[in-house]
Amino acid sequence: MVRSGCIRTGERVLDIACGTGNTALMARGRGAVVAGVDLTRELLAVARRRAADAGYSDITWIEGDAENLPLPDGGFDVVVSSCGLMFAPDQQKAANEVARVTSKDGRIAIQAWTREGGVGRMFKVTNEYILPPSGVPSPFEWGDEAKVKWLLGSAFKDYQFERYDCPEFADTPEQVADSFIDRYGPTHRAYHSLKASLSTNLFNRTRCLGGPDDDRRHDIVMMDDFIYGEPQLLK
Ligand SMILES: C[S@@+](CC[C@H](N)C(=O)[O-])C[C@H]1O[C@@H](n2cnc3c(N)ncnc32)[C@H](O)[C@@H]1O
Repeated sequence: MVRSGCIRTGERVLDIACGTGNTALMARGRGAVVAGVDLTRELLAVARRRAADAGYSDITWIEGDAENLPLPDGGFDVVVSSCGLMFAPDQQKAANEVARVTSKDGRIAIQAWTREGGVGRMFKVTNEYILPPSGVPSPFEWGDEAKVKWLLGSAFKDYQFERYDCPEFADTPEQVADSFIDRYGPTHRAYHSLKASLSTNLFNRTRCLGGPDDDRRHDIVMMDDFIYGEPQLLK
């Protein structure tokens, strides 16, 4: 993300939905003047701790909503969001806020999952067991080039999109399934709300995402067909 945003020393960088500060800390490491905003106070507390451990006392951490950023117009040279902006339910409002806080000649770099990638495939399986919340647009729309252009419209001069592999590693296909069931909200919710037979079925389907035909030949199951889309946009 930091490379995609071409972040340089002294630039004002905003990390939207910064969570525990992964991207914000990297940007600070490049010498940028960084602010991170997130809805979740607990994650911001972790971000603050990590920043202190790294010796960065000058990052501004803000509790706030991507749909209504408590920040001035044009205040940032680079606006980034890594798997964060895509969760704002009012996508148009969030897109408008990105455009509003980016300076006139600024750049943005937004990372999102694609439907075709591994997480997209996993969500597709999960949705066969439990319906996604109604009335909320899919976060995967931010991994769709046409939709992103539609949302951001003429706010930016030029758009570039790139897709990256983001392999996940596990010792066994079962560990892949466990990690989704533990860490991914929808899969976790589906697994724990199903009858035993169905939850076992979901576990097995998720396990099979770990490699072609549940391939156990490798010590490490490298999910190289497990692709996260990372649209990269330049203003
Ligand atoms: C998958 S985490 C990614 C965190 C971080 N960007 C990273 O790469 O590690 C998603 C983050 O989006 C935040 N988030 C979700 N909806 C948000 C919103 N409307 N406004 C601000 N943050 C939001 C969550 O609190 C969470 O920290």
